[in-house]
Amino acid sequence: MIEVKGLRKVFQLSRKQMKVNNTEEKYKVAVDGIDFIVYDNEIFGLLGPNGAGKTTTLRCMSTLIVPSGGTISVNGHDCVKDPLEVRSQLAFLTSELKLDTHFTPDYTTRFFGKLHNMDNNKIETRMEYLFDYFGVTPFRYTKIGDLSTGMKQKLSIVVSLIHDPGVIIFDEPTNGLDIITAKAVTDYLLELKAQGKTIILSTHMMHVAEKLCDRIGIIMDGKIKAIGTLDEILYMVKEKNLEDAFFKLYHQGNRGELDA
Ligand SMILES: Nc1ncnc2c1ncn2[C@@H]1O[C@H](COP(=O)(O)OP(=O)(O)O)[C@@H](O)[C@H]1O
Ligand SMILES: [Mg+2]
Repeated sequence: MIEVKGLRKVFQLSRKQMKVNNTEEKYKVAVDGIDFIVYDNEIFGLLGPNGAGKTTTLRCMSTLIVPSGGTISVNGHDCVKDPLEVRSQLAFLTSELKLDTHFTPDYTTRFFGKLHNMDNNKIETRMEYLFDYFGVTPFRYTKIGDLSTGMKQKLSIVVSLIHDPGVIIFDEPTNGLDIITAKAVTDYLLELKAQGKTIILSTHMMHVAEKLCDRIGIIMDGKIKAIGTLDEILYMVKEKNLEDAFFKLYHQGNRGELDA
């Protein structure tokens, strides 16, 4: 179980960022005190427009950045006090992961397995399974720089999941992918759920949230506006579909309270 309580993240802006953002403010509140729980073996989705604070929230959960306030615990381990333990239990995936183009999938995957202190037998077994599942096997000795975009994306999933973590955090899983690769990725998320994993994803796409998520948190401007199952959100917002509910919240700024 993952518990996020009063999470806040404030970035100090550089002069250049202030100029780009066209603001005199020296600080940007990216995440403004959010609470949610992700239960074991569910797919939880953070749904929100660009700039809502999704990536920042997921980076805090993955221990990549330190929150300005609030707490996050992953299976009872605090993300700030016990980051190494948290890291061993989760994978953070993003569609923007960059792999070194000079190496092969075989070499890269082994390298990451060793970083996770896996022994060679375990690396071998996991690698065969994942390479097979994602169709990487025929390209295992091809330089990454020569792979297609879809194959690179599949390889980055393989690399992130080599240590078989129980919690998978996936930032915008299908962003920028062609439809075939996007389908392979969403099918795999359902497969991971069937294996008993806990999955948190972010998306700005209604159909991704609708199709994959057991529970959804709608995040806008650093705040959670509504949280619950799709049916709970529709009931609460009094709308018939997620898109209408989303825009109603966007215009009204309601705060849903269905989740305890
Ligand atoms: N490192 C950073 N420095 C300054 N501002 C940031 C930084 N990272 C994110 N932000 C700002 O915080 C807000 C939330 O960003 P982000 O979490 O990336 O949103 P999302 O993933 O929902 O699109 C945005 O306004 C973004 O510009
Ligand atoms: Mg983002």
